[in-house]
Amino acid sequence: MSTEYTLVHDASELVTGPANHVKATVADDSAGASPEGGDGSSGPPDDPVLETESDAAVVLEDGRVVATGPSEEILREYPAENAETAIDASGKCVLPGFVDCHTHALFAGDRSDEFEAKLRGKSYQEILAEGGGILRTVRRVREATEDELVERLRAHLETMLAHGTTTVEVKSGYGLDTDTELKMLSAIERAGEGQPVDVVPTFMGAHAVPEGTDADAYTDAVVDDQLPAVAEQGIAEFCDVFCEADVFSVAQSRRILEAGVEHGLRPKIHADEFVRLGGAALAAELAAASADHLLQSTDDDVDALLEAGVTPVLLPGTAFGLGGEYPDLAPYRERNVIPAVATDFNPNCHARSQGFAATLACVGMGMTPAEAILGITCRGAAALDRDDGLGTLGTGSPADLVVIDGPSYRHLPYTYDGNVVETVVTDGEVAVDGR
Ligand code: NIG
Ligand code: FE
Repeated sequence: MSTEYTLVHDASELVTGPANHVKATVADDSAGASPEGGDGSSGPPDDPVLETESDAAVVLEDGRVVATGPSEEILREYPAENAETAIDASGKCVLPGFVDCHTHALFAGDRSDEFEAKLRGKSYQEILAEGGGILRTVRRVREATEDELVERLRAHLETMLAHGTTTVEVKSGYGLDTDTELKMLSAIERAGEGQPVDVVPTFMGAHAVPEGTDADAYTDAVVDDQLPAVAEQGIAEFCDVFCEADVFSVAQSRRILEAGVEHGLRPKIHADEFVRLGGAALAAELAAASADHLLQSTDDDVDALLEAGVTPVLLPGTAFGLGGEYPDLAPYRERNVIPAVATDFNPNCHARSQGFAATLACVGMGMTPAEAILGITCRGAAALDRDDGLGTLGTGSPADLVVIDGPSYRHLPYTYDGNVVETVVTDGEVAVDGR
């Protein structure tokens, strides 16, 4: 018997992933009855949407889950004394590592004064129009050295990891010129190296229109100058666009995302956040990996997204920070689909914890705790095109898990004044040891 395995045993609850009947898209035939029992209502599902086991153990080896089951059985085959690391999770719940599929975690400067300006009644768009918001961060990021950016992102990754995030997407988009966008992507890659969080880089040159140009001319620059350089650099995996009134039109967004596809970058879209411009429909047309925000999207938009296999991503932290309305869950519930939930961590939404995003998804959007758990785990993985079991803990899944100081998954969204994450394992190794 090999002794290279990591063992988590005697967990009062182990969350392995979605229940069989939970669908990924409306076209997903593998799903059976709906979580609502088939009535397509928009109320919380009666049937459990999570697969859980009590008094359970999980074994990790060579970066994968190799066994899960009742502790007693697992311990017979994989004794604790033979394990490289054995974690006693008595009285605690074990969850898949959290996947944060939408962040702008690399930035410089301080925009805490805008938090106050918003409380005094200024809107996000007014702040942007006055040269604040994204454009202010752009000035600071252009001034920063790549080393400073690496250091700042590393610190955020450490906080995210301590809160259970084991995979995080990070966008560029505070450079808005070729050199600074490349600097950001390089900093994202370097910050990811030699630390435990898996970092997924997205190019978002079309995050705002920089000063001194207009959206059409800047779209040309993104397509003709930035994208070829980004492709040659070879770091970015996705291309994202802020498709919004007074930012990038649908036609401009389509040009950028299609050019991204030609350069091998999968599309993502900030869609229908303030105005229903048609970003969700564009995401469907392009079969994007995800469409994010979706506050103004209609039922028809949601149908189109799901039929095209696009993962919807909802960002309750943004609504919380702007003091605005939350995305409506009803269209997803009616279609038996659970959206991904992410932090949207950025200078305008200064929160890095997926547990807190789950709390807001419950309290602000009416998700059940089980839906929120799926939102921050396997549904986030879907938004990143990962289909290797990321965000679940079945046999063969990646060896990323979280032990929380509470007997059930509900304790994650239920406890919002501190950090219930105790131990984090990434790639089979203990990365945070709160025992
Ligand atoms: O997703 N909507 C555009 N981008 C971010 C905000 C970024 C910023 O304000 O710096 C978002 O909310
Ligand atoms: Fe965003």
